[in-house]
Amino acid sequence: MGERVIEVSGLTKYYGELLAVDHISFGVRRGEIFGFLGPNGAGKTTTIRMLVGLTRPSEGTAIIDGYDIREEIVEIKRRVGVVPETSNLYDELTVWENLLYMARLYRVPRAERGERVRELLETFDLWKRRDTKFRRLSKGLKRRATVAAALVHRPSILFLDEPTTGLDVVSAGALRGLMRRLREMGVTVFLTTHYIEEADQLCDRVAVIVKGKIVAVDTPENMKSAVQGTPVLEVVFDSPLPSLETEKMDLGTIVVEGNRVKILTEDPSSTLEAVIKLARRHGLRIELVNTLRPSLEDAFVKLTGVSPELMRVEKERGR
Ligand SMILES: Nc1ncnc2c1ncn2[C@@H]1O[C@H](COP(=O)(O)OP(=O)(O)O)[C@@H](O)[C@H]1O
Ligand SMILES: [Mg+2]
Repeated sequence: MGERVIEVSGLTKYYGELLAVDHISFGVRRGEIFGFLGPNGAGKTTTIRMLVGLTRPSEGTAIIDGYDIREEIVEIKRRVGVVPETSNLYDELTVWENLLYMARLYRVPRAERGERVRELLETFDLWKRRDTKFRRLSKGLKRRATVAAALVHRPSILFLDEPTTGLDVVSAGALRGLMRRLREMGVTVFLTTHYIEEADQLCDRVAVIVKGKIVAVDTPENMKSAVQGTPVLEVVFDSPLPSLETEKMDLGTIVVEGNRVKILTEDPSSTLEAVIKLARRHGLRIELVNTLRPSLEDAFVKLTGVSPELMRVEKERGR
């Protein structure tokens, strides 16, 4: 697991004046599931697009499996599979036809195409659906077929852009299982997500990206332990909180979810006093006070100042 199969250095993308990806550097090890975690607009998709040759970097580069994305993108395309956020399969073709078409596009030898596609459809539990038109599949099956199609040329690295976004819980779980299976098969998996829990459960290592900059790269465990000493104070009120923009200054790192606030604090006692004052000021009653162990979500908030709720809200609005 030590070898670096992706080595990104100073990778940068400008769209006109907008700095979408800001001199990022990190490495991905062969055989790991590497997560790119960040809110909407952070630069995740742009990074993937640069790594797989869909858009050119403004500055910096990356070496993938020994090849430079600036000069050897043809070699790279042979070695990587891409699952875009919006499927690249054809609505009017059947599942079978779509995969066969992909196999041809990726120059899989003619004699091997049928067998290769059959194998994939069986592995992905899509064999029974092979004659169904793509547009008639459920969201979950569409995503699964898109992943299968990205593997027809047996890439050693698979890029997935928000693979579970918009899926129901069961389909998302099945897809995560599939990514773990790919790892067992030796495929390096690079995925983007805005689900902190997903990064925690699925990824061997996670890079956190905010506004085009990487703010941390580590295992979920190490990220959690960075805030482990800091207790989290959870307070539940009898009604939803008004906007807390001004109070945030005094309270520090705070997450508001409806009636509930979570505050990362070195000093629970004085923070609790501040919360009581706040409740009085807004005419709220406190129903529950709790201290919790920090989760990856709390670590994320501390690292980025971005509220997990804001990540979810932005994403849904954008869809
Ligand atoms: N083709 C484009 N032209 C101009 N701006 C873009 C383009 N693609 C993305 N952006 C901008 O770049 C930033 C990063 O976008 P993106 O990489 O899609 O973020 P993410 O995938 O993390 O949501 C955003 O501010 C977005 O509006
Ligand atoms: Mg994106």
